[in-house]
Amino acid sequence: MNVKDLLSLKNKVILVTGGSGNYGKCIVEGLAEADATVITTSRDLSSAEKNAGYFRDKNLDVHAMQADQGDADSVKALKSGIMEKFGRLDGFVNNAVSRPMKGYHAPIDQFEESMQVNATGMMNLLREMTALIVQSGGGSVINIASMMGMFGPDLSNYDGAPGMGDLPPDYFFHNAGLINLNRYMAQMNAGKNIRFNCISPGGLFNNQPEAFVNNYCKKVPLRRMANQDDIKGLVVLLSSDAGAYINGENILMDGGLNA
Ligand SMILES: NC(=O)c1ccc[n+]([C@@H]2O[C@H](COP(=O)([O-])OP(=O)(O)OC[C@H]3O[C@@H](n4cnc5c(N)ncnc54)[C@H](O)[C@@H]3O)[C@@H](O)[C@H]2O)c1
Repeated sequence: MNVKDLLSLKNKVILVTGGSGNYGKCIVEGLAEADATVITTSRDLSSAEKNAGYFRDKNLDVHAMQADQGDADSVKALKSGIMEKFGRLDGFVNNAVSRPMKGYHAPIDQFEESMQVNATGMMNLLREMTALIVQSGGGSVINIASMMGMFGPDLSNYDGAPGMGDLPPDYFFHNAGLINLNRYMAQMNAGKNIRFNCISPGGLFNNQPEAFVNNYCKKVPLRRMANQDDIKGLVVLLSSDAGAYINGENILMDGGLNA
């Protein structure tokens, strides 16, 4: 098959959780530009509608749905809503993240709050959406983790950037867990025509303080942070038939920072 046809996401229905967030918006845009029908979710339906409207104004096929990853009833409603409206699910980008914990010494109940969404809720959502994809005949799951799930923090990045270096432990814990959970899911769903891959991105430029950006970029061989286009090609590849033999993988997308 022609590689352009292999990369096309035409007729594929793909769910992106946290699609109004920083990386979420880039992921939604990339998938829709490759002709997917994209469902973007937020906890707040009006925020998801606003996000979907922004993309529909660009003639992209993006739909909004409400979902709170930490709430099992909400996940159940999302599942039945997808079946009612689209009758199938071909792909899932597991992208939402909750960031309740603010630093090393933050109250430990904030760690538990994080796990409720980023571990327990995430697992529930992942299992339910996997079932929907299998029921639809198969497809692709992409788990968005982080390079912070693969390496410890480099505190020198925060020199001269007050208030930025107190990194929360929950983020390192749940992202590392997700990378191996991805391999688990690939093995547990063997024979069901479903692939699981992880993307571990580096930092996305988001007008962070200049000192941080300078410290960080000096260490990246490409001398820049990730931009809004950088993740698009990977999510399209992994969601499409062009990525049909990539399974159980974790792809570090950090511009060479950790090379
Ligand atoms: N931004 C970066 O530089 C960066 C770097 C590496 C990895 N990542 C990864 O990218 C993914 C997205 O991160 P981001 O920086 O775009 O985050 P973000 O905070 O901009 O967006 C996260 C989204 O998740 C949603 N969310 C939070 N709690 C939720 C819940 N209970 N139910 C449903 N949705 C909920 C938020 O509303 C938001 O839309 C995460 O998996 C993160 O680990 C981000």
